[in-house]
Amino acid sequence: MNPIVWHRLTRYLLTGDVIALGILAGRVLRVIQLDHVHIMGRSLGDTDPALDKLRARVQDLHTRFAQPADLDLLRSTFPHHARMYAERMQQGDQCLLVEGGSKPVAFTWLKPHPDVVIAEIGCRVKLPPQGVWGYDTFVLPKARLAGAFVVLMCELLAELRRRGASSVFGTITHTNRESFHSHQRLGYGIALTLSRVQLPGLCLYRILPSGDRARCSVSTRGAPEIPIAAPRGEKLGGQDTALAGRTAGPGPS
Ligand SMILES: CC(C)(COP(=O)(O)OP(=O)(O)OC[C@H]1O[C@@H](n2cnc3c(N)ncnc32)[C@H](O)[C@@H]1OP(=O)(O)O)[C@@H](O)C(=O)NCCC(=O)NCCS
Repeated sequence: MNPIVWHRLTRYLLTGDVIALGILAGRVLRVIQLDHVHIMGRSLGDTDPALDKLRARVQDLHTRFAQPADLDLLRSTFPHHARMYAERMQQGDQCLLVEGGSKPVAFTWLKPHPDVVIAEIGCRVKLPPQGVWGYDTFVLPKARLAGAFVVLMCELLAELRRRGASSVFGTITHTNRESFHSHQRLGYGIALTLSRVQLPGLCLYRILPSGDRARCSVSTRGAPEIPIAAPRGEKLGGQDTALAGRTAGPGPS
């Protein structure tokens, strides 16, 4: 077993995170695969003074949308999904870049289409009217904990508001505590939690909308369609809202 798997195994055993342990075991044994993701959302409503204050603390970073001419720059700076960037742009997806000087330090992607297939879990998500899907948010390791994520999200929310969008959503895997915390801090809340158990030829889905009853579905082929309700009036930090007030943090990773 490789050292990363050992490291994760030890961590999950020590913290007693049974779900994360199951997901890891399934992947290693390749017999059964378990996935567990949160769909996090944020309404775009009014501007949020607390968020503007956070944004104002970071002066040396700015954002711009990447162009096809930036493809080589994207591939060399963010090699983790390098093969996909050209295809994403051809599909009409947009990439918002954060730059310090003229060097990119972070990016996120937007899908302007109303229906979204969540690649990592195989579901078709139906967004509320004027909802937007964001994905592949990434801050270079050397730029983390220094405001790049705040700049990225604040500029993203402002741009989407200008475009008349109502809300923005994206997935966060159960074990990604850093991302969960960073999003929650900026007013995102859990809209839905999705679990998938994959056996040879069969998929079991458990869909848990925030504050609602869980729904289970079995699929032998094709992904279930999942409608997402619009989030309501979040405030910074995920407090005092119908959506964020019901959130529970992910288990330890
Ligand atoms: C998740 C991710 C985007 C977060 O980026 P980040 O820059 O580290 O996140 P944040 O801006 O929220 O910063 C986190 C911490 O830095 C602090 N921070 C933010 N701005 C700061 C600033 N200007 N000065 C000092 N500290 C600052 C925050 O207070 C926070 O600390 P806290 O946890 O004590 O509140 C990043 O870790 C990442 O790219 N991870 C890998 C890919 C990934 O998981 N993507 C998300 C997929 S859903």
